[in-house]
Amino acid sequence: MKKIVVTGGAGFIGSNFVRMLLRKRSAAKVIVLDKLTYAGNLDNLAGLNKDKRFKFVKGDICNAKLLADILPGADIIYNFAAETHVDRSILEAGSFVKTDVVGTYTLLQKTLEYKVPRFLQVSTDEVYGSILKGSFRETDPIKPNSPYSASKAGADMLVRAFYKTYGLPALITRSSNNYGPFQHPEKFIPLFTTNAIEGMPLPLYGDGKNVRDWIYVEDNCRAIDLVGRKGKIGEVYNIGAGDEKTNVYIARKIMELTGADPSLLTLVSDRPGHDRRYSVATRKIKALGWSNKTAFDEGLKKTVRWYRQNENWWRPVRDGSFRKYYRKMYTGRLKEGRKL
Ligand code: NAD
Ligand code: TYD
Repeated sequence: MKKIVVTGGAGFIGSNFVRMLLRKRSAAKVIVLDKLTYAGNLDNLAGLNKDKRFKFVKGDICNAKLLADILPGADIIYNFAAETHVDRSILEAGSFVKTDVVGTYTLLQKTLEYKVPRFLQVSTDEVYGSILKGSFRETDPIKPNSPYSASKAGADMLVRAFYKTYGLPALITRSSNNYGPFQHPEKFIPLFTTNAIEGMPLPLYGDGKNVRDWIYVEDNCRAIDLVGRKGKIGEVYNIGAGDEKTNVYIARKIMELTGADPSLLTLVSDRPGHDRRYSVATRKIKALGWSNKTAFDEGLKKTVRWYRQNENWWRPVRDGSFRKYYRKMYTGRLKEGRKL
């Protein structure tokens, strides 16, 4: 039986990935290592502990001693664990450097020590920075602009260095923005969906015309799985659906789908260093046999339906510390905001 270690498996993409693995690979044992930060949530893995092939360990990827218990005998490690929200990285960058850079370094060091034969680093298209025309290829230089993307870029550089210097059998995926079930309501699509359901204002940064290439989370999970099995060691693979949308387009779609009052849409002061557009060339992942399955409008419909049907999942997440964060992030901005 294959032993698969998934760090950050109680987060958004990680939990979708773990569910997919257990569904598709009958001969796999999946161990999730997750610190359960504010973004980690055992509800994301609800029901899986009935499966004998699944094990959850609460812990930090910076904890080398704990890694010594978990990594020996692993066939592959998928590193999803990270601090992930750009806005939070602007408020406080230290935890991003700690987990995304030092945590990845600790994992790499232990992967080497225990001779784990495959290590997949889950990275992001944000490491390339903004691009106004065309798309970034895997060979393009990385130019991150936020403390989040800089920390992820630091991790990518370490992965590369461990491959080049020690021959560590590593791969990197760089995907575009994901959306779908179980995404924390701090992120754009779930924030706007849950605010719309609540009848709260939808705070659009800047002019609302920033562009992201949105990929439905299950399509990204299939691509990561494919790279994990068939990808060439030492290589980077971009992953994107080619579904570029402006934020204002998505906000309007969400209002349509939820039946929210259009006057909720509010232009607020921009995010500092806000990347205008992300876009990646995906020839390489397609050559490996992947193609995107979910068109954006269809995926958004499914996602909004999921949030409507799973209020018991997101209501507790929007409580407590999230309210404090929300006030800090949005109250002043919304007061000075203007209707579109
Ligand atoms: P998320 O914030 O939903 O989940 C992150 C998970 O990591 C949480 O469960 C958290 O508890 C865990 N974690 C944080 N610090 C940890 C630590 N020190 N040790 C162990 N666990 C820790 O994030 P996500 O959106 O699921 O993203 C997963 C990965 O995919 C990240 O590496 C992110 O950079 C990358 N990524 C995300 C997107 C996106 O659009 N969400 C796009 C491209 C790449
Ligand atoms: P986000 O989900 O934070 O992802 P990222 O910044 O990593 O791409 O944001 C997606 C886009 O939505 C980005 O252009 C910023 C914008 N946005 C808003 O306009 N308002 C918001 O409240 C948030 C959270 C994001």
